[in-house]
This record gives sequence, structure tokens and C-alpha cells, in this order.
Amino acid sequence: MTATVNHLSQVGDKVLVMTPVYNIFFNSIINSGRQVNAYQMEYDQKTATYRVDWAEVEARMADPLTTMMILCNPHNLTGRVWTRGELEEIMTLANQYGVIVIADEIHGDLVMEGPDTRQPFHWGRS
Ligand SMILES: Cc1ncc(COP(=O)(O)O)c(C=O)c1O
Repeated sequence: MTATVNHLSQVGDKVLVMTPVYNIFFNSIINSGRQVNAYQMEYDQKTATYRVDWAEVEARMADPLTTMMILCNPHNLTGRVWTRGELEEIMTLANQYGVIVIADEIHGDLVMEGPDTRQPFHWGRS
């Protein structure tokens, strides 16, 4: 991850992450002399899941200093498996604003087959 950040961005660039996220992402960014552009997802008590304000994500991608995004899918630590629609939204924005997306899919093998893989994960629900 750090090698990729170093290779594909410049010192001083901002790297977008959707938090809360695996803490080592921050190390890869900061130790490389880049800045963390952290979008804090909103926790919804009613549905017990994290919501994304895509307009806010777009605003952060539109920042000219933001040249890269580290995507985590499945997302550690919210458990979110991004839907196809959400991934397409991210890629549309990334293409529009020239942001390189790198994806950490290390937990991909843990996603079970079935309709739930197309929906956000809901904690505490069967
Ligand atoms: C999202 C994510 N990426 C990577 C890793 C593993 O990183 P490493 O191989 O550096 O231990 C973990 C471990 O928890 C993780 O949650």
C-alpha cells in the first residue's frame, strides 16, 4: 500500500479514505509525506449501519490536491461490502476528478455468496 501511494502520488497530495477504516492506511499516507483526506461516514443508529453522503465524497474528490483514494472492500471496520452501484459511483467521481483509486480487498474471501453481498452489511441483523 505504501509503495503504491509513493509511486502514484506526489509528496503533499491528499489521499481520500472513508473512515472509520483500518488504521494502517493512515500510516501509509502520513509516512509517505501525503495528507489524509478523511471522509467520516455517518453512523445511523436506526439501521445500525454507516451511511455515505456522496455529495461530501464528491466535494473531497474535487479538491485538486486529492489525487488518490484508498478504498477498502469489504470495509474494515464497518463490515460494509460496497454495492455495485456504490462502486460505480466511486469510479464515476474518480474518473471525473482524476483520482486514482486503489482497493484493499484483503477480506474479500470472507464475503459469503448470496444476495447479502449486494447489500450493505447491517450489524445485529440476521
Ligand atoms: C484492510 C486490511 N488490509 C490489510 C491488512 C493486513 O495488513 P498486513 O498484511 O500489513 O498485516 C488488514 C489486517 O487486518 C486489514 O484489515
